[in-house]
Amino acid sequence: MGKSWKTRLIHSDVQVPAGYRSLASPVYRGSTTLFPDSASVNDGWDQHEAGYTYGLYGTPTTLELAAKICELEKGYRTIVMPGGQGAIALINLALLRNGDHILIPESVYTPNRKLARNVLRRFGVEASFYPPEVGAGIKDLLRENTRLVWCESPGSITMEVQDVPAIAEAAHARGVLVALDNTWSAGVYFDAFAHGVDITMQALTKYVGGHSDLLLGSVTVRDAKVYQQLGATQQLLGCAASPDDCSLALRGMKTLAVRLKHIEASALRIARWLAARPEIERVLHPALEGSPGHEFWKRDFTGSAGVFSIVFKSEATKAQVLQFVDALELFEIGYSWGGVTSLAVAYDFHGSKGRPDYGHRIVRLNIGLEDTEDLLEDLEQGLNSLRKRQD
Ligand SMILES: Cc1ncc(COP(=O)(O)O)c(C=O)c1O
Repeated sequence: MGKSWKTRLIHSDVQVPAGYRSLASPVYRGSTTLFPDSASVNDGWDQHEAGYTYGLYGTPTTLELAAKICELEKGYRTIVMPGGQGAIALINLALLRNGDHILIPESVYTPNRKLARNVLRRFGVEASFYPPEVGAGIKDLLRENTRLVWCESPGSITMEVQDVPAIAEAAHARGVLVALDNTWSAGVYFDAFAHGVDITMQALTKYVGGHSDLLLGSVTVRDAKVYQQLGATQQLLGCAASPDDCSLALRGMKTLAVRLKHIEASALRIARWLAARPEIERVLHPALEGSPGHEFWKRDFTGSAGVFSIVFKSEATKAQVLQFVDALELFEIGYSWGGVTSLAVAYDFHGSKGRPDYGHRIVRLNIGLEDTEDLLEDLEQGLNSLRKRQD
């Protein structure tokens, strides 16, 4: 007897023509992953070893993105997380234990700092914060129980490029691992492993996604033992990246090179133009002479991204800085970066421990894919609006 139509909704005999080929990576969604027989059932998280076992550890779409990031960063293996901050958390939670000490640059992305202060501390991990320009001097900050040194180069908002090789050399001499937030370089402008880093992470949310429509993060390692620690922890944290988001990131990767090239040229032109403006004291762009750590950018990087900051002269009031940002018409106001839309956000560093004293005078710009001349015109009218107000 034939099966009921209700059953056939689930167990159908339909067939579609074989042999389909497309340029797009298929989106494989799935929690349950089928085994051929009972004897094959297993729950190993490392699907490179165990075969496909469960959606939490990735479908072919997730693993394709991981493999492509790994290829780009020249690592051993990559784990994809549901966001950049999740990638930072995974590194800490996988590698640290009660009694450990970690070092974090003062210029780090704020949620990385807060994770250490508000969460890791509760689990008995102590963090200290070091000046990003410390270089080989990190050796004096290493303790008996230091387990991990974080780098972020350039740092968030204040844009200090770090002497990562010197930090890595000092850390390795004491058997300490080095993790790098490599988001600004999109994993391509700074070859982290060639410069001594052990673990890199990126917020794929930024340049790899590239269109402000997804959140993803990656952790790439060069060592099988560290990979085992990270993978086993990801399994227990239960952090699965969405295959739909991964497919968007895979699409983003195909245009990454042309987007980065356009953005680099546009950002450089805009940064140099801003540096010549009378209202601006400093442009914090790693590729510009005089930007903190420019010499390390020149030595270690092969290109520059489109996120940089400007510092207004000391006479600029907070109201004027905010007025400038509000006056911009093409630059939208919002967090995150790396997408096609230019963004501007004013920060206030009054009272921020360890960060340069730019006070309320610092604005971070994300240069998108709009025409450079139009962006310059927008910035010019934004700056001129301040003069009008003063007159
Ligand atoms: C340098 C850096 N690292 C990590 C992150 C976190 O990424 P996500 O927003 O995907 O959690 C960000 C986000 O702004 C960032 O700027």
